Amino acid sequence: MSRKAPKLRGEKTVAVLDVGSSKVAALIALVGPEEDAPRVIGVHQLACRGMKNGLVSDLGAVEAAVRQAMAKAEQNAGVTVSDVTVSVSAGGIDSDLATVEVDIGGQRIERADLDHVHAEAKAEIEPGGKIILHAEPALYTLDGQNAVMNPLGLHAETLGVAIHILSADRAPMQNLETAVRSADLNVARLVVAPVAAARACLSAQERDLGCALIDLGAGRTNIAIFAQGMMAGFSSIPMGGEDVTADIASALGTPLVAAERLKALKGSANSVPRDNHERIDVEGLEGGGALYQRPRAELIQAIRGRLDVLFGLVEDRFEELGFKGPRARQVVLTGGGAALAGIDDYAEGVLGRHVRVGSPSGLTGFPEQQRASAFNVLTGLALIASEEAPRFWDRQQTSFAPVEGTGFRKMLKMLKQNI
Ligand SMILES: Nc1ncnc2c1ncn2[C@@H]1O[C@H](COP(=O)(O)OP(=O)(O)OP(=O)(O)O)[C@@H](O)[C@H]1O
Ligand SMILES: [Mg+2]
Repeated sequence: MSRKAPKLRGEKTVAVLDVGSSKVAALIALVGPEEDAPRVIGVHQLACRGMKNGLVSDLGAVEAAVRQAMAKAEQNAGVTVSDVTVSVSAGGIDSDLATVEVDIGGQRIERADLDHVHAEAKAEIEPGGKIILHAEPALYTLDGQNAVMNPLGLHAETLGVAIHILSADRAPMQNLETAVRSADLNVARLVVAPVAAARACLSAQERDLGCALIDLGAGRTNIAIFAQGMMAGFSSIPMGGEDVTADIASALGTPLVAAERLKALKGSANSVPRDNHERIDVEGLEGGGALYQRPRAELIQAIRGRLDVLFGLVEDRFEELGFKGPRARQVVLTGGGAALAGIDDYAEGVLGRHVRVGSPSGLTGFPEQQRASAFNVLTGLALIASEEAPRFWDRQQTSFAPVEGTGFRKMLKMLKQNI
């Protein structure tokens, strides 16, 4: 069977993978001159337990899930793919700004000057044992001050460029890449998961003015701060929806699978007096399908107990990342955990900021059930993979030779942007 339409000129397919702690999701999109936006032509998701807290813990399990998810997506799409863009949500992810300056001598800045400062910056960037996942010019400075987005045609004594760098530890990236390669797929690019999620669910204004994205995953809660259009800070907590489920299972004395179901169907982050009177059926631990009636309040209490701990940690991370002040008002929740009933109101109460749940947009042909917050990363990956724009930094992943020495942090003057 082949539903493959004849390819038009300029058409291409892009394939992406979100390898999470609870699931592997694969998506194939068609990009072409006839399409208003990348169009989903194949998508498949399946449960996978080969990742622990966002890191590969069982290569074989991840490989098998990746192979199966992509095979199904290929079957839906009627195409085969070889290159994939893959998300990364843990493994020493850091966000930095590095600056480099060159002399212009009061002249008008030409294309050649820009090429020169870019070349200088590239030569300076040393991975220092880490893998650079992303490095792009964020803004330019004239005579050490005056920040401009496009310096062409302006006069200056010196031209500086601030390069936004996202890096990660080498070993976890290699492990992820090995798992994907074992499934006969070539990792074209690794993209930091919150950067992908932000593409799918943040508005341009949110990214510019200042906003925190909280990815409530199964094994990780990732916090990414956006300002001036880029990800300016990142922090990761090894705790997520799995912990909520485990707490429910302990509190109600029910198997994990049943606790997971109760959380999604009867759970909430908000408690109301009625919860004390409402009874829910809870499966016993002894097996055999015995059901016990318990007040719904017990379920909600277990959920809120874990959320209080988690959001307490989130507030600490906001503080550490400098997400405070009048520009630090907007929070967007993403990931499967953002599907919990009442989570936006709960988070708004504890964080004292505006909170909304982000849902993905930007692709066409996405089935309705996949417009949920858990699909923001997958959507953003497809949008990023569809871009034609030449990238400043194209060397990535394990092709880096190990670098000895002091590391790029010490070698370059890092600027932490004021947010
Ligand atoms: N309706 C719901 N209510 C509450 N929690 C939910 C709901 N739907 C999904 N979840 C939770 O979301 C989590 C999965 O989210 P997601 O798919 O974003 O994680 P992941 O990408 O696999 O993991 P990670 O990003 O941590 O590696 C699970 O813990 C699941 O219980
Ligand atoms: Mg995830």
